[in-house]
Amino acid sequence: MTSAAEKSTSRKNRAAVNRPQKSDPDRHRNKGRRDDHPGTVTAVRGSVVEVHFPGELPEINSRLLTGQENHVILEVIVHLDAHRARCIALTPTRGLTRGASVTDTGEPLTVPVGEELLGRVFNVFGETIDDGDKLDAATRRSIHRRPVPLEDRTTQEEIFQTGIKAIDVLAPLERGGKAGLFGGAGVGKTVLIMEMIHNVIGRHGGVSIFCGIGERCREGEELYREIQDVGVLDNTVLVFGQMNEQPGARFRVGHAALTMAEHFRDEARKDVLLLMDNIFRFVQAGAEVSGLLGRLPSRVGYQPTLATELAELEERICSTRGGAITSIQAVYVPADDFTDPAAVHTFSHLSASVVLSRQRASQGLYPAIDPLQSGSKMLAPHIVGEKHYQVARRIRQTLAEYEDLKDIIAMLGLEELSQDDQRTVHRARRLERFLTQPFFTTEQFTGHEGRSVELEAAIEGCRRILDDELNKYPEKAFYMIGGIGEAEKQHWDETGYAEADTDGNDGQPGDGDKDEGERRDDEGSSDQEGEDGEDSHAAHGDAS
Ligand SMILES: Nc1ncnc2c1ncn2[C@@H]1O[C@H](COP(=O)(O)OP(=O)(O)O)[C@@H](O)[C@H]1O
Ligand SMILES: [Mg+2]
Repeated sequence: MTSAAEKSTSRKNRAAVNRPQKSDPDRHRNKGRRDDHPGTVTAVRGSVVEVHFPGELPEINSRLLTGQENHVILEVIVHLDAHRARCIALTPTRGLTRGASVTDTGEPLTVPVGEELLGRVFNVFGETIDDGDKLDAATRRSIHRRPVPLEDRTTQEEIFQTGIKAIDVLAPLERGGKAGLFGGAGVGKTVLIMEMIHNVIGRHGGVSIFCGIGERCREGEELYREIQDVGVLDNTVLVFGQMNEQPGARFRVGHAALTMAEHFRDEARKDVLLLMDNIFRFVQAGAEVSGLLGRLPSRVGYQPTLATELAELEERICSTRGGAITSIQAVYVPADDFTDPAAVHTFSHLSASVVLSRQRASQGLYPAIDPLQSGSKMLAPHIVGEKHYQVARRIRQTLAEYEDLKDIIAMLGLEELSQDDQRTVHRARRLERFLTQPFFTTEQFTGHEGRSVELEAAIEGCRRILDDELNKYPEKAFYMIGGIGEAEKQHWDETGYAEADTDGNDGQPGDGDKDEGERRDDEGSSDQEGEDGEDSHAAHGDAS
């Protein structure tokens, strides 16, 4: 890329935004700043700036500086002709005027890498934004890099446990793989990521990198405190390009975080946990950039380059013999429409997808994971073992049958079902409740003490429900508990009330008057109760 020959090809290739790069991180280092031929701003349109260079054009992806005290940072995206480049601003362009002088730094955007980063918070430029000292000495790397070649990639076929029952049992994450948390607004993606940070980072030996893309700044602040409280800040790096920043910054912050992660993997040979909230905002920022550059939108208004842009980022997240990058990404699904191109394209990159459903959230069944939509490539007998595989399969089957029976129950009532079907319904409702879990990160507002559950215990609990071993306990005994032992620990009399167990955290919310409708025992007499009434009571009680 440094040679003149390469430069001329890049000039011809106007749309070469995603041009493959050499993987040598230092390739721009010696070129240096080029103050001899400054450019001139010829147009400013929001975040898009056109620059005229009398001499040589800077390469695609070069970082340019302009404005007062060089405060405005631009990235070259398109070469319009031999002397004009169209650039996207990564900082606000307010105050920038035509005729302003532009300096080519001769290098792309870079971020610092290395051990010094641990415990710090950065923006897209790799500047610290916490209240610590400035980080100067660190080595820097270009944020644009080529993915690891195919022959150097590895897979481990090992499960990455999260301590969250519904995920570990039904959609186990892959160590060194990519997992997505899909859901519309406010169904619990961020809460789930925070809970995983709480459960996982402490046990995870390596380094964790959190990347906030286009979400609320408040969440970043909460996360910082959460990580501090868990005591793992010293092994964590945070990178933010939140929703108040320029589209260009949100578009590049994922690459910045990934560059830091790659360095830990390749140079320090550590296992890296990369959390991103929210990858959809990266796609959205790409759409904004594309619109600003004047490209015609494609399907549903997205950029025509959606697939390549996403792949350019996702393909870099991979594991090598040296170390693994395990990535967990929240994916906002616009208007709960899972056929949205952004969601569909993201799905295809992942080895595990956890789908959150609004219906479950509204019933208070948190985490609102949809067991029938969620899945993982790891859920195969030779990876998770025969028992886990069979239990997961039976859970799916039971819940799917319950789903089919719901219409009949709504029309005719539960008692019209055959004995077999009634048993399926009971199992399904117990499973649904057992798959809820109180979170550590939501303790303050739910009043339930958080629980992390070992995979073995979660599987065994589900198996016992499926084998009807726990029929003597009422459904609510399974709601918001950790291991199955907690359902048994309480002494339930035949009316379904806990006897003298008043430790408060183990019962359902709203234990009391509201639960009249749920008063039931399990040996069949409860079946007389209309399923409708039951449902509405459950929803009411659960959600409180
Ligand atoms: N596991 C949970 N337990 C209790 N409440 C939850 C849980 N998950 C989500 N919520 C509720 O839903 C709200 C929105 O969750 P959040 O994770 O911010 O949504 P998203 O990131 O999907 O937009 C939370 O503020 C909380 O009130
Ligand atoms: Mg969120």
